[in-house]
Amino acid sequence: MNTKGTYYITTPIYYPSSNLHIGHTYCTVMADAMARFKRLSGYDVRFLTGTDEHGQKIQTLAETKGVSPQAYVDEVVDGIKKLWATMEISYDDFIRTTEPRHVERVQKIFMKMYENGDIYKGEYQGLYCTPCESFWTESQLVNGCCPDCGRPVTPAREEAYFFKLSKYADKLLELFETNPEFLQPESRRNEMTSFVKQGLDDLCISRSTFDWGIPVPIDEKHVIYVWLDALTNYITALGYPDEPELYEKYWPADVHLVGKEIVRFHSIIWPAMLMSAGLPLPKKVLGHGWLLLGGEKVSKSKAAKGADVVDPVVLIDRYGVDALKYFLLREYTFGQDGVFTNEVMLKRMNYDLANDLGNLVSRTVSMIEKYNDGVVPEATTNDVIDDDLRTIAVGAAKKVEEQMDKFAFNMALEEIWILVRRANKYIDEKAPWVLAKDPEKKPELDTVLKNLAEAIRIISILIYPFMHTTSKEIRKQMGLWYSDVVWEDAFEFEMMYGEQVKKGDPIFPRLDIEKELAELAKLGEKAAGAGSGEPESIPLELKPEIEYDDFAKIDFRVGLIEKAEKHPKADKLLVFQIKMGTERRQVISGVAEDFKPEEMVGQKVIVVANLKPRQLRGMESKGMLLFADNGKRCEIVTTVAPDGEVVS
Ligand code: MSP
Repeated sequence: MNTKGTYYITTPIYYPSSNLHIGHTYCTVMADAMARFKRLSGYDVRFLTGTDEHGQKIQTLAETKGVSPQAYVDEVVDGIKKLWATMEISYDDFIRTTEPRHVERVQKIFMKMYENGDIYKGEYQGLYCTPCESFWTESQLVNGCCPDCGRPVTPAREEAYFFKLSKYADKLLELFETNPEFLQPESRRNEMTSFVKQGLDDLCISRSTFDWGIPVPIDEKHVIYVWLDALTNYITALGYPDEPELYEKYWPADVHLVGKEIVRFHSIIWPAMLMSAGLPLPKKVLGHGWLLLGGEKVSKSKAAKGADVVDPVVLIDRYGVDALKYFLLREYTFGQDGVFTNEVMLKRMNYDLANDLGNLVSRTVSMIEKYNDGVVPEATTNDVIDDDLRTIAVGAAKKVEEQMDKFAFNMALEEIWILVRRANKYIDEKAPWVLAKDPEKKPELDTVLKNLAEAIRIISILIYPFMHTTSKEIRKQMGLWYSDVVWEDAFEFEMMYGEQVKKGDPIFPRLDIEKELAELAKLGEKAAGAGSGEPESIPLELKPEIEYDDFAKIDFRVGLIEKAEKHPKADKLLVFQIKMGTERRQVISGVAEDFKPEEMVGQKVIVVANLKPRQLRGMESKGMLLFADNGKRCEIVTTVAPDGEVVS
């Protein structure tokens, strides 16, 4: 029908660094429900998802596995596509940033920005968070670490191309102010407004210290910064600029659905890039919250650690796709973080799906079979209770629409469940089993059965965007297999008569929560033990590799710190008196910010004993103590010596 115009919705494109967890499926499940809802209500929908395959993180991961980055991502992307197929995600296109169609178009977009005078060459000097692939300045760090993910950052200094992001600060502020709909929820808009108000630096948009990326068209020593590459996917997938048919039809996007930590990229960098290329901006960027596990974001590394099972494949195997989708959409409030536990999930599935919805359908089908030979009867009577059920049933679709307009998936489902619960209560109030005992009450009994059938028919339409398989199963049991799901039919009550119902398996079997909890805990621990769920491994950035011969030149000895004091002329230095076997000597280290002198006395340390002596602020240092940098501060390297005597 598609009478209402176009609707273009996107998810972020996921890093194929390892398999996806339940947190990733959350965003895609929401986007899928919205896409299905819009299609059902008459829009011409385009739903895009994909994978973000370039960048330093992927390159180093592939190196540690000893495979090419392309081979590495191919395997993970295969798994991601299989997951979306299992979850019946109804995307219209899946873009991979390594596809030629994307690569060529990114270069063309880069050139547009360059020709508009917004790209220049300079030197980047700052800090880089590899897991987030983002640049930071010292003042933006929180406790010395990446403000987004809390992990250590590494210094980076290289020749690079820059995008004149600063030039667009005023335009961005104007956008946030004059078009509050552009960025939601409001808390994110406020955050982004103050981020821009603090002043925008120009953005480094090329890297030259690794090569897994799209070459900068004017300088092939550089690859395009992975976020610039990734953000353009929303238009390269539509064929922009060389095959613009879909672009002209669907751009600007109606909504970019993204997690809260990447709102900054989508509401500042992406619009500025589009402004630079002279293209229209997306209509809306919507930032959703995170699923949390024990207070922290569910992440690829946490995925393997606890008893809570966050591998969507395991959960789908046990409970089915629709139960998982329902749980994700019903449990969490858009824009806010929410805690994930096995128990929260199982209770939702049991109470809402097995008890409320499952019971309603199976009781109704059984009663129609028992009291009217399985045929939906006609309604010839009416009272206030019937009216109440009818009013709630035909009014639900409008309420669902209102909630979906706000992306309040949980409230949309709640509106449907108000009807589900009302219908269950209707059965209890009308007690058909009592009416069935009195032949004179047959017309009243028929009305009850017919009204229940109509209510379930409406429910089957309303749940379609969220759980289309269950919707179809219910329609099969209700004898509605012959008719398509049509949204407008949810506003009508009198549509059934004479359908033959047929009992099937329970649509959601009741779960024994205690038993399931025990089973899931076992599965969670097994996954953690076996390392399945792929614990995260992001290689460290290190100095260039050395040969064994270089290493063998070093003479390591164990020393005992007998005395430690501050260097009289340097705040950062500590002066140690060390005993190594028969020898006593002075060694100076730059660890005054990490240790108090008194806590060092009596510690055993590893000493590089043959390092050439040098003067440090007027005092001799003979050798070097080994400390490890844990990314935040120094720690003493545990001595290899046995307890007791100092060995050298
Ligand atoms: N590749 C970038 C996105 C580029 S879009 C042009 C990226 N990838 S990601 O794989 O790290 O994350 C993709 C999405 O998954 C983000 O929106 C992120 O918020 C979401 N989630 C990852 N963990 C999540 C939870 N624990 N909970 C909810 N969403 C989470 O960022």
